[in-house]
Parts: sequence; structure tokens; C-alpha cells
Amino acid sequence: MNKRISLTMQAHLVIQQYLKAGGIAVDATVGNGHDTLFIAQQVGPTGKVFGFDIQQQAIELTQARLNNTNITNNTQLFHTSHINIEKYLGTDFGGKINVIMFNLGYLPGSDKSIITQAESTLSALNQAISLLAKSGIITIAAYPGHPGGDKETDAIKAWHKQLAADKYKLKTIYSANKETAPRLYIIQKLTE
Ligand SMILES: C[S@@+](CC[C@H](N)C(=O)[O-])C[C@H]1O[C@@H](n2cnc3c(N)ncnc32)[C@H](O)[C@@H]1O
Repeated sequence: MNKRISLTMQAHLVIQQYLKAGGIAVDATVGNGHDTLFIAQQVGPTGKVFGFDIQQQAIELTQARLNNTNITNNTQLFHTSHINIEKYLGTDFGGKINVIMFNLGYLPGSDKSIITQAESTLSALNQAISLLAKSGIITIAAYPGHPGGDKETDAIKAWHKQLAADKYKLKTIYSANKETAPRLYIIQKLTE
């Protein structure tokens, strides 16, 4: 099993604890659709899932994956940057979202130059935090090992660290004990 897969599994294990049937969840980077499918299965037909990606290919792959499993009626995909998360979801779902996943970097098996970027990721994270329900969580899988991923991971590490300890419960899971190791940042909102 490679580290990328095991980090994804770590995220799923954490999410399983907080995302129940009827919940509301967002995949901020749908990619190949593995995470979207997972959260769609968790919330079931009475829940809601929203997905974002800037690549048409990712939206199509994810929709096809959902179609294969008949999990479609609770999921809506947006072909746009997660920088628009508040614009798309703020009015109807502000303060109601249970889980928001970010799995950063590039689309596996595709163009490795199309990657998430520090500035837009941080903007989306600040918006995401305001959309969370009480006890809701954000998971961020970050990969400092690819070009650009180091700068983005540094920015997220600093952002995560400055979040107020009385408002958020914070945790970081490292996949290995080295600077370039992929890691999972977890934020749980403790207040309304
Ligand atoms: C590591 S992949 C995501 C893996 C995915 N969650 C899965 O389960 O297969 C990262 C994805 O982020 C997307 N991405 C890059 N910049 C983005 C942005 N600003 N907004 C939304 N998605 C973005 C890429 O197109 C890519 O598909």
C-alpha cells in the first residue's frame, strides 16, 4: 500500500466517526471521485454531498464512479474552483456542513502541473471553516513532496497552527517521520 492511499484511508477513518446518514458533506477536490463516493455512501440517500474540481475530466470521472454505484441523487458536482465554495453553498448550507474534505495536489494519472495552489487553498479553507456545523470537521491531505506542494503545505501548516484553540480542536497525522511526508490536517469546530 503506498502512502497516498494510506493517508486517504486515515481521512476516511476520521470522517466515519463524524459523518452519519442524513449528513451534509463537501469534497473540495473531487479528482478521481474516491473521496466523493465515500462521503456519498456515508450520508446515504437522505444526506447531501457537494463536489468541486477545476478539471472537467475530474468531474466526469467522479460522476461516472457515482453512476456505477447508483449513488447519484444525493450528490451535486460543480466544475469550478473551491474558491467559490461560499458563493455556491453559503446561503443554503452555511453553518450546516458536517465534513469538508480537501485532498490536495494533482489528479493522479493526469497532468501533474495542474495542482492546488497555496493562495486559493487558504481562501477556500477560510470559507470552509465558516460553513461548518458545530462539531463539523475539515480534513486536509497535503503532499509537500511534489513541486509546489512544499509551499502549499508550509502555508497550511502555519494557517492550521494559528487557529484558536478554544474554538477548534486540531490534529495532524504524519504518514512518516520526515519533512517531506504527506500528512493529514484535521480541524474540528467546537462552537456554533
Ligand atoms: C489529489 S486530487 C484529489 C483526489 C480525489 N479526492 C480522489 O478521491 O480521487 C486533487 C484534485 O484537486 C483538483 N484541483 C486543483 N485545484 C483546484 C481548485 N482550485 N479547486 C478545486 N479543485 C482543484 C485537481 O484538479 C485534482 O483533481
